Amino acid sequence: MRAARRVKAHAWLLALAVFGAWPVAASASETIGLCVNDATRDTLHSEMRQLLGALHGIHLALAERDFEALTARAEAVGSAMTGQVEGKGHAHQHAHPSGLPHDFVKLGRATHAAFDDLADLSREGGRPRELLPALAKVTAGCVGCHEQYRLVPAANCAAD
Ligand code: HEC
Repeated sequence: MRAARRVKAHAWLLALAVFGAWPVAASASETIGLCVNDATRDTLHSEMRQLLGALHGIHLALAERDFEALTARAEAVGSAMTGQVEGKGHAHQHAHPSGLPHDFVKLGRATHAAFDDLADLSREGGRPRELLPALAKVTAGCVGCHEQYRLVPAANCAAD
């Protein structure tokens, strides 16, 4: 399962970049494969790239102690973003009404909410001692979901 390995690699790289440590990663066979339609796949991937871009922007803003920029970056990918993927999903097991598994949706919402919390803290004036743990909550959401889920390649979904 090449896709599953790719997700794992992303999660590891992220964790490495953010925590400076290797987490215990689930093996590929432990991840839950999701079948989604092309629109959802595209939306998910583009949302993910936005999240990664936001994380990068947040790190830059932190380095420059630019809390206004940090707030704006975190806000943009907070709860207001929820629903982009949720509205379109199609997966087989334990489905949420949107078609995506309930736990997947919950993890997504928790990650967006963690960005909200980070934006709130930053708006209050940026205390690095609080900002860094709040940022780590965000990245825990990224890593947690990537360890649990992967997309099944479209060609392998057709039969179901
Ligand atoms: C609720 C689950 C979930 C959360 C939370 C999550 N991701 Fe993802 N992410 C996925 C899935 C599923 C994929 C698709 C993997 C695949 O193609 O098999 C993915 C793929 C990606 C990709 C690759 C995109 C591409 O174009 O191939 C990046 C980058 C990424 N995520 C970054 C992040 C970052 C950064 C966060 C946290 C801020 C995050 N993700 C949080 C589920 C999640």
